[in-house]
Amino acid sequence: MKKTTFIYLATTLLVLFAACTKEEINIIYPDENSDDDEVVYMPLKDKATFNIGTATKLSDLSESDYDATVVEHFNQITAEYEMKMNVVWKGENSYDWTAPDALVAYAQENEMDVHGHVLLWYKSFPDWFATAQYDSAAFESNVEEYITAVVTRYKGKVNSWDVVNEVFEDNGSLRQDELITATFNDPIAFYGRCFQYARHADADVKLFYNDYSVALVEAKRKSILEMVTRFESEAYPIDGLGAQFHYSIATDMDRLQTGIDEMVSTGLLFHISELDLKVNVYQSNDYLFSSSEQMLQEEAYQKIVEMYVAIPEAQKFAITTWGVTDKYTWLTTSWHQLEYPLLFDKFYTKKKAFDGFLKGLE
Ligand code: G3I
Repeated sequence: MKKTTFIYLATTLLVLFAACTKEEINIIYPDENSDDDEVVYMPLKDKATFNIGTATKLSDLSESDYDATVVEHFNQITAEYEMKMNVVWKGENSYDWTAPDALVAYAQENEMDVHGHVLLWYKSFPDWFATAQYDSAAFESNVEEYITAVVTRYKGKVNSWDVVNEVFEDNGSLRQDELITATFNDPIAFYGRCFQYARHADADVKLFYNDYSVALVEAKRKSILEMVTRFESEAYPIDGLGAQFHYSIATDMDRLQTGIDEMVSTGLLFHISELDLKVNVYQSNDYLFSSSEQMLQEEAYQKIVEMYVAIPEAQKFAITTWGVTDKYTWLTTSWHQLEYPLLFDKFYTKKKAFDGFLKGLE
C-alpha cells in the first residue's frame, strides 16, 4: 500500500473515530497517578471550617458512585429542583411532599444539613397558581399559606432557606416580566413579608436572599444592598445573602473580590450558593478541555475558595457547588454540551478543579 494511501486511510479512520466519540476526545484525561503531588487529599468537608454543600436531585443520588462522592466530601445539600413550588405545591392547601421528604431523609441518614431552595422564585410558580389571576390579597394569602406549610414541615430539619431568589435585573431594576411585580405595587415590601412568614414558622431558621451576578455586577449588588437596608429599617428578618457564582475561568477575580467585600460589609451570613466555573467560555463546538484549561479551572476555584476563607468566620455559612459531577451539570443543556464546570468528572474522578478547591481551603 502506498504511504499516501495509508496516511489517508489512517486520517479518515481517526476523523471517523473522532466524530463518533466527540465528547471523549475533548478531554485530556490526566493519567492515573497524575494527582498533584502538592495536594494532600482529604474530604472537602473535613478541610473546611464551614459547610461544603452541593446541589442534588433524587435521580442523581440513586447512582452509587454519586452517592458515595456526596457522602465523602459534602456535609450539606441543596435541592436543585425538588423543593421548588412547581414540584411541591399542587393546589390551594395541597402539597406533594414525596420528593422533598426523601431528600431530607437522605440528609438526615447521612448527617448532612439541608439548605432549602427556594420558597419564592418567579420561575417556579406552578401553572395552576400562575393562571389563577389572583388579586394581590389572594396571591399573598396563598403564598403565606405555602411558605408557612413548607417551613413548618421542615422545622428543625432544614436549617436555612433561600426565601426569595433572583428579583433584580443586572441593571438593578426590579424584574418586570413576572407575576409578582405585575401583582404588587411595592414588591420589595411583599418580599419582606415573605421573610416574615418564614420567620413566624421557624424562629431559628436562617433566611437568605439569593441571586446571580451579585459579586460581579455593581448595579444589581447596589439594589440588593438597598433592599437589605430597607429590610433592616422596616424589621423584615434576613440572616444572609446567597451569591450564586455561576462564573467561568475568564471571570475577573478582582471584581469578584470587590463584590464579596461589599456583601460581607452588610454583616450578614454570606453563602456562595451555586458555584460552578465554565471552561468552554466561547461555547465552541471544537472545545478541548486540555491540561492548560484544567489548570486555569484549578486556579479559579482556588482563588474563589481563598476569597471565601478570608471573610470573617462569623459570616461564613457554606460554599455550595451546583452539582457534583460534570456528568449531570445543568450547563451541558443550558450552555454547551462540551462543558466541564464542576469538581468531579463523569467518572467521579477528582479533577484539577478539586485540587484547586482543596488548596483554597488551606
Ligand atoms: O424531573 C423532571 C423529569 O421527570 C422530566 O421528565 C423532565 C422533562 O420535563 O424534567 C425534569 O425536571 C427538570 C428538573 O430540572 C430536573 O432535572 C425540569 O424540567 C427543569 O426545569 C429543572 O431545571 C432546573 C432549573 O433550576 C429550574 O428549576 C435545573 O435542574 C437547576 O439546575 C436550575 O437551578 C437554578 C436555581 O434553582 C436558581 N439559580 C439558577 C439555577 C440554574 O438555572
